[in-house]
Order: sequence, then C-alpha cells, then structure tokens
Amino acid sequence: MHRHELEFEQTRTTILIGRGLLGRAHELLVAEAGLAPEERIYLAIDSGPEGIVADRHGRVLEAALGEQGGLARGTFEALESAKSMETVERIWDDLLAAGIDRRGLMVALGGGIVCDVAGFAASGWMRGIDLVLAPTTLLCMVDAAIGGKTGVNRPLADGGLGKNLVGAFWPAKLVICDCDVLATLGPREFKAGLAECLKHALIDGEAAMNAFEGDLPAVLERDLDAMPDFVARSAGVKTSIVQRDPRELGERALLNLGHTYAHALESNVDLGLLHGEAVALGLVAACRAARAAGLLSGDELEDRVRRLLERCGLPSSLSAGVRIDLGALRDVMRLDKKSLGGRVRLVLPRGIGQIEVVEGLPEDVVDAGWSAILAGD
Ligand SMILES: NC(=O)c1ccc[n+]([C@@H]2O[C@H](COP(=O)([O-])OP(=O)(O)OC[C@H]3O[C@@H](n4cnc5c(N)ncnc54)[C@H](O)[C@@H]3O)[C@@H](O)[C@H]2O)c1
Repeated sequence: MHRHELEFEQTRTTILIGRGLLGRAHELLVAEAGLAPEERIYLAIDSGPEGIVADRHGRVLEAALGEQGGLARGTFEALESAKSMETVERIWDDLLAAGIDRRGLMVALGGGIVCDVAGFAASGWMRGIDLVLAPTTLLCMVDAAIGGKTGVNRPLADGGLGKNLVGAFWPAKLVICDCDVLATLGPREFKAGLAECLKHALIDGEAAMNAFEGDLPAVLERDLDAMPDFVARSAGVKTSIVQRDPRELGERALLNLGHTYAHALESNVDLGLLHGEAVALGLVAACRAARAAGLLSGDELEDRVRRLLERCGLPSSLSAGVRIDLGALRDVMRLDKKSLGGRVRLVLPRGIGQIEVVEGLPEDVVDAGWSAILAGD
C-alpha cells in the first residue's frame, strides 16, 4: 500500500493507494482518521452507471462500515448538471434527517462529481464536518480527491455551465484509493483519467514522462496490479505541489496546465466532453499557445503530447464538423477563476518540467491554442 501525507493548514490528509482497501474501510478510518465508536457516518454514493458503483463497490464499503452504528446513505447521479446547489441541499436534508451533528463524518464514494459535491456539502454542514473520500475513477484518485477543492457548477446566462464557480477548500482527512474499483470504470472514463496523469508527468519532468510512457502498456490493459504504482506516482505530483502551495497563491496554478481551454470547452455542454477529454484538448492547445508566445521553439512537445494522447485513446483535436463559437469560448476564458480582472492567464509549457503561468497574453496567442484543436493539424 502506498501512502502520501499532505498538511493542508489545520488538516492532515492521508492518501492511501492500493488494492482491497474498501473492504478494510472501518479499520482504516479508525487508524487513520480517528473514527470514534459513537461517530455517525453519512455515505454519499455515486448511483451510476446502472447502479454499478453503489451495488458493487458501495456494498463492499457498507459491509466494512457495518459495525459502525448510525450509518446513513444517499445516492447521487454523477452528472455535471447535478453538481449543483440543489444536490448540496438534498445532502443537507439527508444529514438533518439522519441526525448527523458536528461530530459526524461524510464519506463520499464516487468520481470527481460526487466527491466535489459531497465535499462542499460537508464544508457547510454545521460549519464543517470531517470528510473522507473514496474515489472510484482514475481522475479522482490522482487529482480531484487531493488538495481540498470542493464545489458546484452554476448555470451561465447563455445556457452554458460555469464550472466550479461556487466552492470551498475543505480537505479530506483520509483518501482511500482502492484500485480494484477501476475494474468497472467505463473505457471512456478510464482514458479521461489518463489525461490528468499525462498532465502531472508533463509538470514533473522527463523522468515522470518516461515512467508514464513505460507504464502505459500495462495501464491500458487495465492490469490492476500495475495501477497502485501508477496512481501513486501521479497522485504524488499533485500532493507535493499542493503541499507547497495549498491555497493556489503560486505554484499550485501550474496544475491548471491545459485547464483554461478545458473549462471553456466544458462550458459548451453540447460538445459532450468529459473533463479529462477537455483537458487532453487543453494540453494540445497549451503547447500551441506556448509556441505562439515564444516559449517553445518548435512542435516537438505538441507532437509528443498528441502521440501520447492518441496512444491513450484521447482526443487531440475536435471532431471534424464540430462547430464552436470562438467568441463565446473566449468569454468563458475571461470568466475562468484562473483569469484575473478579465485578462486571460494561461499555464503554458516552456518544456517538460518547465511550466509557467503567463499573464496578459495577446488574443492571437490564445487563439493559436484554439486553432491547434480546431484544425487538428
Ligand atoms: N476538486 C478538484 O480538485 C477536481 C479536480 C479535477 C476534476 N474535478 C471535477 O471532477 C469531475 C469529473 O470527475 P471524474 O472524471 O472523476 O468522474 P465523474 O464523477 O464525472 O464520473 C464519471 C462517470 O463514471 C462513473 N463511475 C465512477 N466510478 C466508477 C466505477 N468505478 N465504475 C464504473 N463507473 C464509475 C460515474 O457514475 C460517471 O458516470 C468534474 O466535475 C471536475 O470538475 C475536481
């Protein structure tokens, strides 16, 4: 079992990565999160797809936690449209009905959507209750469950979706990454997680890129024995960066490599992109924008990123015929939390392991990024 520790202000997060961990949840909660016998637990569980997370992994978790009295549960659809205040209010109603007080514990089992929304509900309930996350997607294990960001989306005036516009820093006490749950993850969702792993490798440096490339054959075969090392490496990159800059006052912003483009793409719900797929496109756009900004001198990095995305089965350009409204995407970029005062701020690569935040970029640099994923050349 791998272990990462993260001190986030007053909260210490322990991240455990291995196989067969959900079945040991009670023992781990007692040992690592100080679960007391009288503590009441609310389980927020992903209801999809076709109940597989709840029926298969939820049962393992509930059986393991069975010895704890006062277990309440709710299931939630992992849809971006349900990552909303309505869902948070539903959880709060459940917590009230279940008599969960300030000493209660929220345990979320699901991907980034369920963990983000349950985490945000935990942050507000009785001014904050303890949180434990059991991520069930690759993306959530290496990214969403680490670093304390929780939140919900808000509808935009044009009918789009403002991603994560409302939220709070509310770090989990314990993150249980049981790689066995990845066996049931759909192929598209699994590949989407690889985009964040590639991003972490790009940020970390050449050794991490080589390790990523070396691990890919076993990972793409979904060899569960290979997953804990792979997940631990990628989660370790995020953990170290968040440890140095928990509140994103500096270095943590590097984790947004590709994300300003990705969030704009995701706001166009008609494109139907998963977060990881949008990040994949965002990485290509960031390489091209870096070249236009004079940070990169050639296409080598963009080509390497495209090749790796292709190996992972991820998009490196939008499908032919997809129509997008560039003006609307530019507007969303200005609204992005990473932008300051309406000026787009991009996280761009100067090379592998050399990522920079660049502010006040001219529009043609930003548009160069868009052209990379529109033209697909
Ligand atoms: N808080 C953060 O720091 C952070 C970071 C990155 C992403 N996010 C957020 O995470 C969300 C995306 O999360 P995600 O990609 O983890 O997935 P998700 O929560 O969107 O779930 C994707 C799909 O996979 C299903 N699923 C989940 N686990 C499964 C399993 N083990 N077997 C079968 N099906 C399973 C879900 O039901 C859903 O249909 C976005 O809303 C994004 O904004 C948050």
